[in-house]
Amino acid sequence: MRLLKTIEEAKAYIKEVKTAGRSVGFVPTMGYLHEGHLQLMKVARRECDTVIISIFVNPIQFGVHEDYDKYPRDLTRDCELAASVGVDAVFAPTAAEMYPSGYATFLEVEGLTEKLCGLSRPGHFRGVTTVVTKLFNIIQPDIAYFGQKDAQQVLVIKKMVADLNMNLTVKTVETVREADGLAMSSRNTYLNKEERQAALVLYKSLQKARDMIQAGERQKSRVIAAMEALIKAEPLARIDYVDILSIPDLRDIEELKGEILIALAVYIGNTRLIDNFMLEV
Ligand code: PAJ
Repeated sequence: MRLLKTIEEAKAYIKEVKTAGRSVGFVPTMGYLHEGHLQLMKVARRECDTVIISIFVNPIQFGVHEDYDKYPRDLTRDCELAASVGVDAVFAPTAAEMYPSGYATFLEVEGLTEKLCGLSRPGHFRGVTTVVTKLFNIIQPDIAYFGQKDAQQVLVIKKMVADLNMNLTVKTVETVREADGLAMSSRNTYLNKEERQAALVLYKSLQKARDMIQAGERQKSRVIAAMEALIKAEPLARIDYVDILSIPDLRDIEELKGEILIALAVYIGNTRLIDNFMLEV
């Protein structure tokens, strides 16, 4: 497996791959890899000739009071994990490489970014779409893989790719969960034993919502009230948002019908976790 540290090295490698006529599958990540990330790589491995991942903790998608500095990092371990699922190359640039002094260009998707995480993390999606565009320009993937775990992120990226006529396909991969239902996340490493137990409340509240809807409930406010009651009963949990919106345009709906996204962000202690279910009603 190749480790590419600079944009120049990455571009030279991509040129070789493209000249050989090989298709490129790309998985952008911020590292500290877990089974969720590896699942994306395994799907890419099945579908593409060459699999490239990026590991880059992107400073411009973190708010000033967020966890950029303490975000977990372990490049050696990540490279071993990536190699174990057959990744061909890891692109791991420094922040100075991606954003040299004087950097001035940012990209914004309107509308979709004004809901859910966009409200509680101003500027977050601007940082995501900017870095993902830079990564797409460097790697030139045929297919890029994103996780359903970050449902809004993948909708925003798909919208950007469509609006800007970017020359690639974006594929979504199912959320990978721990045996008890907790969605895998690099941020789960912040949780102590009690918090890890309390974090189950996200999954439980999504199950509650799904059960209610499957039993015939169609009023959004009632489903959300039940989810909130469940979360509020957990002393270590504090709600950031709980919402149900239409897919793919993230419109507000009161009557639950069609494709819907049940999404929530909850602080467990100081750790903000997100999760979602997608349902067809
Ligand atoms: P990161 O949080 O490292 O996630 C990288 C990719 O892995 C994303 O597409 C995310 O949705 C997916 N992923 C994370 N946990 C998952 C799980 N439990 N199951 C399935 N997929 C999962 O998302 C980012 O990084 C960044 O915003 C990035 C796109 C790299 C831009 O900086």
